[in-house]
Amino acid sequence: MSAASAGTLAAIASRTVPAYGNVSRSAGKLAIHGGRPVRTKPWPSWPIWDESAEESVLSILRSGNWFRGRGQTVSEFEAKYAQLLGAKRCVCTVNGTNALLTALHVLDIGVGDEVIVSPYTFIATYNVVIGSCALPVFVDTDPETFQINPDKIEERINENTRAIMPVHILGLPANMDKINAIARKHNLKVIEDACQAWLAEWRGKKCGTLGDLGCFSFQNSKHLPCGEGGAIIGNDEELMDRCYSFHNCGRPYGSVKRTSSYPIIGTNRRMTEYQAAILLSQMKRLESDMERRWTNGQYLTSKIEDIPGIVPHRLYDGVTRAAFHLYPFRYKKEHFNNAPREKFMAALAAEGVPCSGGYGPQYRDGLIEAALNSKNFKRSFSKARLDRYREELHYPDNDQLCKEAVWLGQQMLLMDKQDIDDIADAIAKVYENRDKLV
Ligand SMILES: Cc1ncc(COP(=O)(O)O)c(C=O)c1O
Repeated sequence: MSAASAGTLAAIASRTVPAYGNVSRSAGKLAIHGGRPVRTKPWPSWPIWDESAEESVLSILRSGNWFRGRGQTVSEFEAKYAQLLGAKRCVCTVNGTNALLTALHVLDIGVGDEVIVSPYTFIATYNVVIGSCALPVFVDTDPETFQINPDKIEERINENTRAIMPVHILGLPANMDKINAIARKHNLKVIEDACQAWLAEWRGKKCGTLGDLGCFSFQNSKHLPCGEGGAIIGNDEELMDRCYSFHNCGRPYGSVKRTSSYPIIGTNRRMTEYQAAILLSQMKRLESDMERRWTNGQYLTSKIEDIPGIVPHRLYDGVTRAAFHLYPFRYKKEHFNNAPREKFMAALAAEGVPCSGGYGPQYRDGLIEAALNSKNFKRSFSKARLDRYREELHYPDNDQLCKEAVWLGQQMLLMDKQDIDDIADAIAKVYENRDKLV
């Protein structure tokens, strides 16, 4: 009999319940082997909307004023979002990728520059740096927090480094005290990729307001969704004027003076009125959803942290709220009879708790090598630099995290306490049955 099973029986005998689960529900045959699943009730689908969105989208349709130049809806959302985050200004874009591209452009980061980024992120973070003809210089991940390891940033800075782009990945804030201190010391810009971190907080201030510019995504899966959408927020009026002007074909705006029709280089990254109408209606539920995810996320941690082999993410001391775009933990197979993570995830899913393994080591996927071999990069960086870059493309902590991570979807945290108990009980049940996993 395993130590944990013995512990469970002892707990039953003494009428106490182990901290990591409900004994009766965590006992029994695994659902993957034909047993009764812990949960059959479905989880909510996403996004969730109400009729108020239908009315405002229809009224925009009927007005014929579909682009922001002929309506007020995008401007209204920008003002409200900036206020909600405690930022002076907000400029909406077609999506988060283009928010990041715009931020890099207005900060004059481009050919021959280097940007410090986390390898553990959605691929858009890589793409925007490469797309700006700059070198994405990865810093290994802190596996406990899933964030960029701030203690390894300085060793990657050189005379061409221009910016740090921390990603508050999974909605958990990166260590902004350390990142901002390093940026100040080396005179670097900080662009927060807050595309998964709406209303997350660092020492009471919202993520996205902690660096020079902050970027958000409002894509379908996001907590504030409108299909596709994005925003840049900031406090520097001149910089924000440049964001506005740039996203509007380079037309004059504020301090971008009307010396001609097109005083600066621009592009069209404007959000439509429809997108903003959906965002305004989604915004009504954002704060209450966030609070619920935050409460449930912490509750889930308290329920699973004692299960051997399950290591919930750690939040840095400065985190005053996490957004939990995903709820991550690490799976240590040595505590599960060496069952591969895929077996564990399949067993958990069969118990009614869907999950995924998250990001892989994407810097080995081919896109980095393709960028290094591109005409642009060969012209912008010396052969010696690109050779050294290739040699340094090793991130052991990130590689290990990619093998061990397990993610739960954000919708699951919108449910009640009993639903969160289901998650914990299902994990405990798989643990109890670990001997039968392989
Ligand atoms: C961390 C991160 N950065 C950037 C993006 C890009 O945002 P979008 O999909 O809106 O272009 C995303 C979107 O998933 C993201 O998660």
